[in-house]
Amino acid sequence: MTLEIIPSGTALAAEIAGVDLSEPIDDRTFAAIEGAYNEHGVVFFRSQRITPEQHVAFTRRFGEIEFNIFGERWSVPGCPEIVVVSNITEDGKPIGIRRAGENWHSDMCYAARPPRGTILYAIETPELHGLPLGDTEFASAAAAWDALPDSLRRCIEGRRAVFDFTGRKRAFPPTREEIERNPPVRHPIVRTHPRTGRKCLYVMRDDCTGIDGIDAPEAEALIGALADHIVKPRFIYRHQWRPGDLLMWDNCTVQHRAIQDYDLPQRRMMHRTTMGGAVPT
Ligand code: SIN
Repeated sequence: MTLEIIPSGTALAAEIAGVDLSEPIDDRTFAAIEGAYNEHGVVFFRSQRITPEQHVAFTRRFGEIEFNIFGERWSVPGCPEIVVVSNITEDGKPIGIRRAGENWHSDMCYAARPPRGTILYAIETPELHGLPLGDTEFASAAAAWDALPDSLRRCIEGRRAVFDFTGRKRAFPPTREEIERNPPVRHPIVRTHPRTGRKCLYVMRDDCTGIDGIDAPEAEALIGALADHIVKPRFIYRHQWRPGDLLMWDNCTVQHRAIQDYDLPQRRMMHRTTMGGAVPT
């Protein structure tokens, strides 16, 4: 395989060409993939044809797999590691989670050990009159940190926010048991990427319900201002999906949201795995 890394030309994201993920990946190739992933925050491979088992095996190259509440409801039969993200229904029943994240967020930020990253494999993608729909947008919270004025950096560095599982409106109401399993946690609002050492903002509207040491109204205003800053157009890459795309994002330096501009009969089906993570620093 001759691997080529093609940066998107925006603040984040790169295509990795020349890799067939259905073939064994040697350590050197894997190291190049992992290096590009750490550096660009989002990497994607076009025209892949992989089985659920190959998808899981590729995810395991990055460490443990994380299971989440979507998987408890919608996973690939025989593959509990893979969540089905889809708007398709069979016999009147949804085959997957339809709305996996319309608002800007970082996956499972409410967990004590939020996942390192997420891998989404596109099986069916919607289109209308030949125009692709159902894009996903990604924002670089690292580029957003770089662009902050020093005075604001000094004010927020070292502070921790409360991340509350119940803060975000979800496509389905969480059960009492899920809420009890996910009590509020505190994470630094300026994180350091564990592999590159790059700093980034780690703040989201709804998930963050307060900042330690700052009065509630002021904290709410600061959370809103930082959340808006992170998603300014200059920090964004928008991915237009094609069937066979496998895309992975870093949940420390990157936030994302799914664009919900399609509906049946336009079908969208993705398989998603999540990597285990560590306590944020
Ligand atoms: C997600 O937030 O994990 C799903 C993103 C998408 O469906 O585009």
